[in-house]
Amino acid sequence: MNAPAPPPRRPIRELPDALISQIAAGEVVERPASVVRELVDNALDAGAQNITLRLQAGGVRLISVEDDGMGILPGELPIAFKRHATSKISDLNDLESVSTMGFRGEALAAINSIADCAILSRATGQSEAFLLDGRTGELRQVARAQGTTVEVKELFYSTPARRKFLKTDATELAHCIEAVRRHALARPDVAFAIWHEGKVVEQWRACGGDLDRRLADVLGADFLARSVAVEWHSADQRADGSSQEGRRMRVWGRVGIPDAARARADQQFCYVNGRFVRDKVLTHAARSAFEDVLHGQRQPIYALYLEMDPTRVDVNVHPTKIEVRFRDSREVHQAVRHATEDALAAPRAQAAGAVVASNPLAAASEVPVQPAPNWTQALQNTPQRTPGNLYASQSPIAFHVQESLPGQRVSDLAALWQPADSPRIETQTATPPQSDWPLGRALAQLQGIYILAENAQGLVVVDMHAAHERIVYERLKNQWTDAEGKAQTHRIASQPLLIPATFACSDAEAATAEAHVDTLRALGLEISAFSPRTLAVRAVPTTLAQGDAVALARSVLSELEQHDASTVVQRAHNELLATMACHGAVRANRRLTLDEMNALLRDMERTERSDQCNHGRPTWRSVTIADLDKLFLRGR
Ligand SMILES: Nc1ncnc2c1ncn2[C@@H]1O[C@H](COP(=O)(O)OP(=O)(O)O)[C@@H](O)[C@H]1O
Ligand SMILES: [Mg+2]
Repeated sequence: MNAPAPPPRRPIRELPDALISQIAAGEVVERPASVVRELVDNALDAGAQNITLRLQAGGVRLISVEDDGMGILPGELPIAFKRHATSKISDLNDLESVSTMGFRGEALAAINSIADCAILSRATGQSEAFLLDGRTGELRQVARAQGTTVEVKELFYSTPARRKFLKTDATELAHCIEAVRRHALARPDVAFAIWHEGKVVEQWRACGGDLDRRLADVLGADFLARSVAVEWHSADQRADGSSQEGRRMRVWGRVGIPDAARARADQQFCYVNGRFVRDKVLTHAARSAFEDVLHGQRQPIYALYLEMDPTRVDVNVHPTKIEVRFRDSREVHQAVRHATEDALAAPRAQAAGAVVASNPLAAASEVPVQPAPNWTQALQNTPQRTPGNLYASQSPIAFHVQESLPGQRVSDLAALWQPADSPRIETQTATPPQSDWPLGRALAQLQGIYILAENAQGLVVVDMHAAHERIVYERLKNQWTDAEGKAQTHRIASQPLLIPATFACSDAEAATAEAHVDTLRALGLEISAFSPRTLAVRAVPTTLAQGDAVALARSVLSELEQHDASTVVQRAHNELLATMACHGAVRANRRLTLDEMNALLRDMERTERSDQCNHGRPTWRSVTIADLDKLFLRGR
C-alpha cells in the first residue's frame, strides 16, 4: 500500500472575530431552548421579578425575553454584544466565588453571531429606552418601561447546516418550556409567562418563598401530594469542636415517595446554589437513597436544592454551566444521600389519611413489579408466590444465605421472625379507638396473602409477607448496628477455603483487589494475587461458603471499582440482611390470628420505610369509602 500524500502546507492565521463567535456559539447554542436558558439567566441576574418569553415556530423564528430588571445603560449597550464582555465578574476572585447565573460574557455575542438580534433596554434611573440592532450596530431611541427585552430572530440563519438538526416546532417548544421550568423551580419569587404564536402556554405567578406552591404549579399537584419534604443541613461544629465554617451545606426540597417513581428520569431536578445542574454525583446520591425502597429500573422524582460555599464548587466546567465540579464530591454525595434517606424513612402509615393511595386505581397502575390495574382485579387474583422468584435479589452482589447471620445466634433470629405478639401489643389492642391507628383494625385475612383492616378512611389492604419482610429487615439492620457499635467497622464472619479458587483477572481487578484488602476483609473476603494475572479467593463469608466464590469475588471487585468502599460495604450488609429477612418473613398461606395481624399493623406504623418491601413494592394500599362508593356507582 502506498503512503498517502502529505497534506499541503497552510499558513497559521488568526480567525476572524465573527467566525470565533460562531464556533463559540456551537458550544452554547444547540437549539432554541439554549437561547432561552441564556436569556432567562440574564434576566434573573438583572433582578427581574417578571419574565415573559414569547416564541414563534418553536423559537426558531422568534425568541423574545422581556424582563423588568435593572436594564443596561445606553453607553454599555454596544459592549453587551462583544465577546467576553460581562458586568458580573472582574477578576479571578470573583470567578472563584461567582453567585450570578452568567459570568462568561459570551452568550449574547454567540447568539448574535448566529441569529438576528436586538436589545431594547431602559436602565434604572433613565428616562429613555434604547434599541440596539445587533446586525448593524445602530442605536436608536424607543419607548419602553424599565427593563430589558432581547429579541432573537431566525436562529441559525447564517449557519443553515445547524438549522437542519432542529426537530419539529412542537419539540423545540417543549424544550424551551422545559428550560423555563428549570428556572421557575429555582425562583418561586419570580413570575414567568410563556407565549407561543400569540397564545399563553404556561404562566406561573410569583409566590414569594413558597416553594411548595411553585412545585405544584409547575410540576402538578400530584408531585406535591406524592412527595415528602427534605430539609437537612450539615452540623456547624465538628465533634472535636473545630468549626465547619465554609463547609456548611444545606439540602432541601421534595422527593417523591417510591410509589411516585416513573419509567423515565424526567422529573429529577437538582440545583446547586440556585443553578440547575445535571451531575452524576447528585443523581447517584439521590438514587442510592432509594436503593432500599425502589425497584431497580424505576426513576424517582425529586426537586433537590443544595446550598454550599461557592468556592467549594466550580461552575466554570462547561460553557452551558449545566455541569459542575465539587471540591469534595464525597461530602456532597453523603449530604444528598442522607437528606433524601431521612425524608424517605418515616413510614407514611404514621400520618393519618396518608396520601399514598388516595387514588388507589391510579396508584396501583404505577406499581412496577406486580401490576394490579385495578382493585377488583387485584382482589380476584390469587397469585402463587414463591419467595424464590418474586423476592429474588436484584443486585449484582447476590448473597445466598445458607445458614444464620454471622455473629448472631440462631435463636435470636428465630425470635425476630415471630410476628411480634408481645404483651405490649395486647394492651394496645384493648383500648384505643380504631381511628387512632393509621393502618386500622384487622378484620380478616384474605387467601392467606392479604390482611384486610378497617381505618377511619375505609379499607386497608396489607401484603403480609412484604410488610413483615420489611419489618424483619429493618430490625436486623438495627440489631446489627447495635451489636457492633456504630464506631466499629462492620465485619462479616469469614471462612477460609480449603482449596483457594483462582481466576484469570484483568489489570483493573488486580489493582482493586490490592487497593481494597481491608474492605474485602470486612466483607469476609480474602483475595490475593496468585500470579501477576491470576487472583486467588482464599476466604469467603461463612454464610456463602457453598456458593460460587469466583463469581462473588468478581462482582464485589467490580462494585468496588465503581463505587467508594463504604458504599459497597453498606450495600453488601444490607443485601445480606435483606435476603435473610425474606427467608424469615411470614410465608403466604400462614394463618394469622387477629392479634397477630394487629401486631403486624402496629409494627408497620412504627417501622421506618415500612410502606415498601425490600424490593420497592408497596406493602399496603388503602381503598377509601369514596373509592368503594365509586366502584359500586353509589350516590350518582
Ligand atoms: N436582561 C438583561 N438585563 C440587564 N443586563 C443584561 C441583560 N442581558 C444581558 N445583560 C448585560 O449584558 C452582559 C453580557 O451578557 P452575556 O453575554 O449573557 O454574558 P454574562 O451573562 O455571562 O455576563 C451581562 O453581563 C449584563 O451586564
Ligand atoms: Mg448571560
